[in-house]
Amino acid sequence: MYTDKVMDHFSNPRNVGEIEDASGIGEVGDASCGDVMKIFIRVEGEIIKDAKFKTFGCGAAIATSSMVTEMSIGKSLDEALALTNEAVAEALDGLPPEKMGCSNLAADALHGAIKSYRESIV
Ligand code: FES
Repeated sequence: MYTDKVMDHFSNPRNVGEIEDASGIGEVGDASCGDVMKIFIRVEGEIIKDAKFKTFGCGAAIATSSMVTEMSIGKSLDEALALTNEAVAEALDGLPPEKMGCSNLAADALHGAIKSYRESIV
């Protein structure tokens, strides 16, 4: 039911952990299942230089967290804000329809981290 890419990112998640002194942190939860995703970013000159995640959640949530960190590193904040939940799911070659809700956490947590960074510098 899961694609090879989902299984790969679930079994060998990239960028797991926390960033000490992160520029921004985004945290979102899914009220229906209780899963929680936290994304940390390090920003230098409007570019995301590093991203890490901690996710207490299902396999799809872990795979999308891993993918969204990979997709965001090296992007400008505006480019990262334009990343959609659908783009993350597509990068994983799709998720089962009943798991698409889980993929919403990833981009939302990333966007939250960018928002927290922007709020911290005003
Ligand atoms: Fe909770 Fe997937 S079941 S995020």
